[in-house]
Amino acid sequence: MEIIKLLLALLIQASFLAVECLNIPADSILDHLLPSYDYIVVGGGVSGLVVANRLTENPNVTVLVFEAGELDSSPEAVTVPGLIGHGGFVPPYNWNLTTTPQEFLDNRSRDYGQGHVVGGGSILNGLVMTRGAKAEYDAWETLGNPGWSWRGLLPYFKKSENFSAVVSPEYQNTLHIHPHMSVHGTDGPVGVGYPSFFYNQSTKFLRGIHELGVPVLSDPNAGVAAGATIVPSSILAWNQSRADGRRSYLDPVLDRPNLHLATQQTVTRILFVNETSTGQSPFEALRRAYAVEFVTLGDLHRWQVPCGKEVILAAGSVLSPALLQVSGVGPASVLEDLQVPVVLEIPGVGQNFQDHGMVQAFYNYTEPGLFSANNLTGDTLLNVQEQYLANHTGPWTQPLISTVAFISLFNLSRLLDHAPNPSVIGSNFDHKAALRLGPDAHPTIVEGYAHQLRALLSLVLNPAVAVLEIMADSIGTLSVVMQHPLSRGTVRALSSDLLSGGSVAPNIHLDPRYCSHDLDCEFLRYGLKLNDRIIKTKHMKELKPAPAYPWNDACNDTLLTETIKARIQTEFHPVGTTAMMPLAHGGVVSPRLVVYGTANLRVVDAGIIPILPAAHIQSAVFAIAEKAADLIKEDYDTFQPPTPAPNSIPLGPGDPHTPSGSPEPQG
Ligand SMILES: Cc1cc2nc3c(=O)[nH]c(=O)nc-3n(C[C@H](O)[C@H](O)[C@H](O)COP(=O)(O)OP(=O)(O)OC[C@H]3O[C@@H](n4cnc5c(N)ncnc54)[C@H](O)[C@@H]3O)c2cc1C
Ligand SMILES: *[C@@H]1O[C@H](CO)[C@@H](O)[C@H](O)[C@H]1NC(C)=O
Ligand SMILES: *[C@@H]1O[C@H](CO)[C@@H](O)[C@H](O)[C@H]1NC(C)=O
Ligand SMILES: *[C@@H]1O[C@H](CO)[C@@H](O)[C@H](O)[C@H]1NC(C)=O
Ligand SMILES: *[C@@H]1O[C@H](CO)[C@@H](O)[C@H](O)[C@H]1NC(C)=O
Ligand SMILES: *[C@@H]1O[C@H](CO)[C@@H](O)[C@H](O)[C@H]1NC(C)=O
Ligand SMILES: *[C@@H]1O[C@H](CO)[C@@H](O)[C@H](O)[C@H]1NC(C)=O
Ligand SMILES: *[C@@H]1O[C@H](CO)[C@@H](O)[C@H](O)[C@H]1NC(C)=O
Ligand SMILES: *[C@@H]1O[C@H](CO)[C@@H](O)[C@H](O)[C@H]1NC(C)=O
Ligand SMILES: *[C@@H]1O[C@H](CO)[C@@H](O)[C@H](O)[C@H]1NC(C)=O
Ligand SMILES: *[C@@H]1O[C@H](CO)[C@@H](O)[C@H](O)[C@H]1NC(C)=O
Ligand SMILES: *[C@@H]1O[C@H](CO)[C@@H](O)[C@H](O)[C@H]1NC(C)=O
Ligand SMILES: *[C@@H]1O[C@H](CO)[C@@H](O)[C@H](O)[C@H]1NC(C)=O
Repeated sequence: MEIIKLLLALLIQASFLAVECLNIPADSILDHLLPSYDYIVVGGGVSGLVVANRLTENPNVTVLVFEAGELDSSPEAVTVPGLIGHGGFVPPYNWNLTTTPQEFLDNRSRDYGQGHVVGGGSILNGLVMTRGAKAEYDAWETLGNPGWSWRGLLPYFKKSENFSAVVSPEYQNTLHIHPHMSVHGTDGPVGVGYPSFFYNQSTKFLRGIHELGVPVLSDPNAGVAAGATIVPSSILAWNQSRADGRRSYLDPVLDRPNLHLATQQTVTRILFVNETSTGQSPFEALRRAYAVEFVTLGDLHRWQVPCGKEVILAAGSVLSPALLQVSGVGPASVLEDLQVPVVLEIPGVGQNFQDHGMVQAFYNYTEPGLFSANNLTGDTLLNVQEQYLANHTGPWTQPLISTVAFISLFNLSRLLDHAPNPSVIGSNFDHKAALRLGPDAHPTIVEGYAHQLRALLSLVLNPAVAVLEIMADSIGTLSVVMQHPLSRGTVRALSSDLLSGGSVAPNIHLDPRYCSHDLDCEFLRYGLKLNDRIIKTKHMKELKPAPAYPWNDACNDTLLTETIKARIQTEFHPVGTTAMMPLAHGGVVSPRLVVYGTANLRVVDAGIIPILPAAHIQSAVFAIAEKAADLIKEDYDTFQPPTPAPNSIPLGPGDPHTPSGSPEPQG
């Protein structure tokens, strides 16, 4: 009888959620939630939706996804490749974060866009689908993570994608697009394919790079990732529109009664209780996450919802560590500043932040009659729009970036005068580098960094791995991006209340510490010098590049460095803040993605990446989350019910004023 009632409740609520009210009304959310869920997923972005989809394949499992943002309304600025990134962010879907002033650059802070919407970063991103080299994932395994090599992840890269090799024969040849189907999947949820239109500038760029002796890759995702290439895009090949986390993993399973999505609800804390059995843990007792606390957008009241099996953190590299810290899991000094009771001291939470710093450099093409994205105005725009809507063809199918060069150190050292000599570069990777972590770095972080440096050195010396990316658009921008940064930043919660006073902007200190190791900025300088060689190749000269100051002077190193430091911005690839590495090396999660010292709290988002690959990272995040779902399923039957029954905790208001003082159930 009880079971039937529960199922009935599930069905009624779910159909309500799915069909007409997926967006649970903020003022009646408590009427729609179950008393408890098996799994609570925090964050409905890329990783969260993958895991929620896979776990609810089992109809007996209940999953609740909390997402701070809303469902996007499919504006063209989200769905149409040709419009993405041109008008800045689509307003409501961004957290509007900023960094702290960047002291190793110019003391200015930077905007730091992150998705605040169902689908997370995949609603805002530039559609680039790259994996990086085989060796980069093998390095993850070397850092203490069995199963996380290229071989271990390839099945999940394939599982997540529906790859279409369709591209017109004309482009196949001129752009050297010949995907290796053995490394691609064709049954997965995320559409991946090629635009049906390319600007002629793509051909010129690939040919120019080739003139310099850099190889052109027919498929950048097959294990060797140094060379110039057309990158595939996360689009549905058939209608040339965005393929994102929401449209790939959520929309197709909205009819599942066991999957609940609560939008515009921000999780503010994870609540723990001690587990009686200790197990193989360096901690005296394992902590069990028994509930999460959340707040409705714009509201003050905090509510709790219990979970029976696991809490799964998928709030992204910036907000997952902040959430752990306010919940009492983090570095001792941070927890002390926040005045939250220590649940677990884990020095790596919010440390080890890595990002790809990028500089957009302008070489304005002035060839008479050239057709570029700048020409999409007036009547041309109307025609282009009509063509896209009618036939899914034309310039609107072309994303901002499809044409890139990934440059190895091996190639770079042969392409520039006063080139970076690999053995000199190597001297940057020694123990002295740890000084750049800052005076307060915990010994385990320093130890982990030393292990990373060893792995990084072998990566940068590998001719299949890139140290620089150059992204070419159609109008003359050649953005240079560092690929294997040595700098490490931090994320820190600034208040025990992540959203104080009904604010939507989280109270955090986000410090990428760009170029705290100067080698990172040095690589960008080499990138600008390489750009200067690229625009002077025979094929690129045909575009008549006409760079203005400061881009027209690639000889003045002082000027180059000043320019770089003034202009570095994020490429939106933060990782490492909840790194998958041994605890003694500053890690936060085990190779099963369980937070050390906890029985049932996992992190599945980009923050677990221990070393940033030389790639745009969404395809890695999709693959990681697919693998995470399998790990969670494997443990489904082995997890024992919690010692103190969590359903003894009533769903009800938390105390908004003393977020640290919530009573733990006695057991
Ligand atoms: C502007 C931009 C451009 C990018 N371009 C590319 C690209 O071209 N190619 C590429 O490969 N990658 C790109 N990326 C990166 C890629 O999108 C991310 O790596 C990916 O989205 C990370 O997935 P995630 O699950 O870790 O986090 P996200 O996708 O960011 O998801 C986290 C989710 O959690 C929610 N959340 C956070 N805190 C809470 C809370 N407390 N309570 C409830 N919900 C919460 C957020 O609102 C968000 O929806 C880009 C990212 C951005 C922002
Ligand atoms: C769901 O539960 C029922 C009843 O307990 C059981 O028979 C069935 O095998 C379960 N299904 C799955 C997929 O675990
Ligand atoms: C970010 O700024 C935009 C534009 O001002 C706004 O619409 C949006 O609500 C803001 N996001 C958050 C999370 O406050
Ligand atoms: C940044 O600020 C610090 C401390 O105030 C100062 O020492 C440094 O010179 C400044 N750097 C720049 C580039 O202005
Ligand atoms: C994969 O995409 C193709 C179109 O490129 C489509 O026909 C097919 O149905 C898709 N497969 C899946 C499993 O979605
Ligand atoms: C492309 O097709 C998908 C369904 O397969 C649909 O959701 C989406 O809106 C379409 N995009 C455009 C731009 O028509
Ligand atoms: C949980 O265990 C730790 C020691 O392992 C102890 O310090 C803490 O007080 C315990 N918490 C509760 C609520 O029992
Ligand atoms: C060159 O291109 C940049 C970026 O598109 C633009 O801002 C600038 O005005 C252009 N300069 C000239 C001289 O056209
Ligand atoms: C595109 O715009 C530029 C500058 O406005 C112009 O010189 C060029 O002729 C245009 N190209 C086409 C094909 O109309
Ligand atoms: C590309 O170049 C060819 C030959 O010069 C020209 O016919 C064609 O119109 C160009 N295409 C675009 C999109 O500019
Ligand atoms: C769509 O394609 C058809 C067939 O190629 C063509 O006749 C038609 O003009 C195209 N429509 C638009 C708006 O470009
Ligand atoms: C670049 O590296 C590739 C190997 O990846 C090599 O074949 C090629 O000759 C190198 N080119 C230059 C200019 O160093
Ligand atoms: C190089 O650039 C710096 C900074 O802009 C400037 O002060 C210096 O005069 C330049 N040197 C030469 C030789 O142009």
